[in-house]
Amino acid sequence: MVNTTLYLHIMLEHLDAYYVNLFSTLIYNQSGIHFSKNNRSILENRLRERLKTLKLDDIRTYYDIIIKDPEEMKVLLDSVTTNLTRFFRNKGHFQTLEHFVIPNMVAYKRERGANHIKVWSAGCASGEEPYSIAMVLKEHLPLHFTAEIIASDLSLTSLLIAREGFYNEARVSDVPLAYLRKYFEKKPDGYKIIDSLKNMIRFDYHNLKSESGLKNIDILFCRNVIIYFDETAQKSLINRFWETMAGFSYLILGHSESLFGMNTPFEFVKTDWSCIYKKNKASKDR
Ligand SMILES: C[S@@+](CC[C@H](N)C(=O)[O-])C[C@H]1O[C@@H](n2cnc3c(N)ncnc32)[C@H](O)[C@@H]1O
Repeated sequence: MVNTTLYLHIMLEHLDAYYVNLFSTLIYNQSGIHFSKNNRSILENRLRERLKTLKLDDIRTYYDIIIKDPEEMKVLLDSVTTNLTRFFRNKGHFQTLEHFVIPNMVAYKRERGANHIKVWSAGCASGEEPYSIAMVLKEHLPLHFTAEIIASDLSLTSLLIAREGFYNEARVSDVPLAYLRKYFEKKPDGYKIIDSLKNMIRFDYHNLKSESGLKNIDILFCRNVIIYFDETAQKSLINRFWETMAGFSYLILGHSESLFGMNTPFEFVKTDWSCIYKKNKASKDR
């Protein structure tokens, strides 16, 4: 009798390069995620895993399936994403949020008789980022101010964790103790986000390649996401962000990401804690 696992293993050892390229283009067109020659092996490994799970021995058959099945496309996209995240990742961004963004935004809103702040965590992975933002807002927004956070990702598995809001001991190690006590419920095997914090956040499936339909975002976090895109996809996303954001608003990218050389109307802002971007429609209209 043929050992199916061994057979599949041998068949999948060498994936047809032509089809790997087709998958790479497909993934790029669908999500902006770019596989260069250097990280092509990641794509090949994820394709092998998917073929094994589906018990397929031929990458061509898988290609025929995926171009007709949007649900399978979602599964593949999920599998090629890197969902690494942490609570209060890049602490400087949260210090900037607390000491610079919130005070400026509050002053701006007050002048206009407004008291609501709309935040978008784009590429929120398993929720640590939007929950960290929510904790800082809860602590530092003045009374009578309200906030809503939209948190989105295209990884369905990450969104499940985010919506559940349950994290084991190791994953909450970066949460300040006072916040851990206040915003988490201790469970036998980990920590659960309390409902009042969770209720500030709406978790949505959203692919950043398409229009979000969001408007008037005051603070946009999109950290460690565009690093996986090529320049063209980055530019198009940043242009869409501009349209999505309110006239006076802040954009926070990842520590190693920047708009340098992109010729965008965003203003570069260096605070004592980190570098961020500002949209100021009043001073820079396009
Ligand atoms: C490395 S994680 C960053 C998580 C969090 N922002 C942080 O900095 O800790 C990148 C996230 O971006 C998401 N992502 C990548 N491409 C995306 C796209 N086209 N649309 C939506 N999310 C995307 C991935 O699924 C992943 O969860």
